[in-house]
Amino acid sequence: MNTHLNWPENETTQTALWVSESGTNPPKHMTLADDTLSAENAHRLASEGHALLWRGDFQNARHLLQALTRRLDKLKSKKTNKNKIIQSNLEVFHQHRMAQAQRAHILNAIVIVVEKNHHIDLRRAPDVVDACFEVLGEQTERYALPLRQLLAYVSAHEWRKNGVLIPALNSNIHPHYGVFSPIRGEYLELINSAPLPKPCDTAWDIGTGTGVISAVLARRGVKTIIATDTDPRALACARDNFERLGLTTQVQLHQADLFPQTNTKADLIVCNPPWLPAKAAAPIERAIFDEKSQMLKGFLLGVGAHLSAHGQAWLIMSDFAEHLGLRAPNEIPDMIERAGLRVLKKHDIRPQHGKVFDKTDPLHAARALETTSLWCLTLAAKTTLT
Ligand SMILES: C[S@@+](CC[C@H](N)C(=O)[O-])C[C@H]1O[C@@H](n2cnc3c(N)ncnc32)[C@H](O)[C@@H]1O
Repeated sequence: MNTHLNWPENETTQTALWVSESGTNPPKHMTLADDTLSAENAHRLASEGHALLWRGDFQNARHLLQALTRRLDKLKSKKTNKNKIIQSNLEVFHQHRMAQAQRAHILNAIVIVVEKNHHIDLRRAPDVVDACFEVLGEQTERYALPLRQLLAYVSAHEWRKNGVLIPALNSNIHPHYGVFSPIRGEYLELINSAPLPKPCDTAWDIGTGTGVISAVLARRGVKTIIATDTDPRALACARDNFERLGLTTQVQLHQADLFPQTNTKADLIVCNPPWLPAKAAAPIERAIFDEKSQMLKGFLLGVGAHLSAHGQAWLIMSDFAEHLGLRAPNEIPDMIERAGLRVLKKHDIRPQHGKVFDKTDPLHAARALETTSLWCLTLAAKTTLT
């Protein structure tokens, strides 16, 4: 159901559709804000629960958002220096998530109204038509959204236009807004180099996201691939990438919860589920957080029934959750065994992305220990699943 934001202005009640990617309700207390508002006052009003409906110059709203961000960063480093107590990685993780949520609440307080044709009626407003249309499609009425979210649409539009170079493909993948982006590509190197089962004519890619794993398998010569996802944004993004890469005859897309509904079996079934077993704070986080390891368990418990006689299941998983204390060290091998599968080989790689080396990152201690693995699995014994 659509929700609306209402506010008094020019002696009438104004209204706009409320668009929130984090699923929050429209703010109750609206204050009209313009170029005269200081970062200090904005911070105070936002902390008191007011949303700031921007009526000034668009670029000044961006500067205010930057100033608010700097303020929050300063306050955070003051707090960290004061409370230097020894905490477990798990405590640090929960505290970090809570701080992120509070920070988002403050930063999302600056609200922009966009007309239904995706134009912004403010001084020095940029052209956001393509960026907003890509995410929201046709709109039949004007809408309001946090400025931060609008800027995320704009940045996603640039990523989508330019793409991300995937060395394993020697081509670009074009991520869409809200779809898991393969910028940390180390796991793709594993998928590109691990020996394929013989023969490997058919493969399934469970939770395809941008479609990148299907694309790597197609380039490796797998003739028929089925890619699944539940998220319509991911399906649209994967379709776009398969078209750009000329793979639409080799890869079929199915909207499915885990496995496609087909009576055929696959020689290879690959899955890269979200790596952290925790509750997503917002729908947009569902590609990162897998509450109670639902996708992971569903994949392991179900995959055996879909494998051909010599088939393999490939699971991509990092041990970050273990270093954070969110998952017990033996949990994955135990799940594999309980699912009637056995490990043929485990290929490991150390992540090389910038965050691993960032000592200011609150999760650095756990991140520095992280290994990403490709678990190559097969049926333990034919009798196990009968
Ligand atoms: C971590 S992302 C991986 C995306 C892509 N395979 C990659 O490696 O870049 C997980 C993907 O699984 C999808 N997903 C989550 N639950 C699912 C389910 N039950 N069935 C199918 N896909 C699911 C999400 O929408 C997301 O696109």
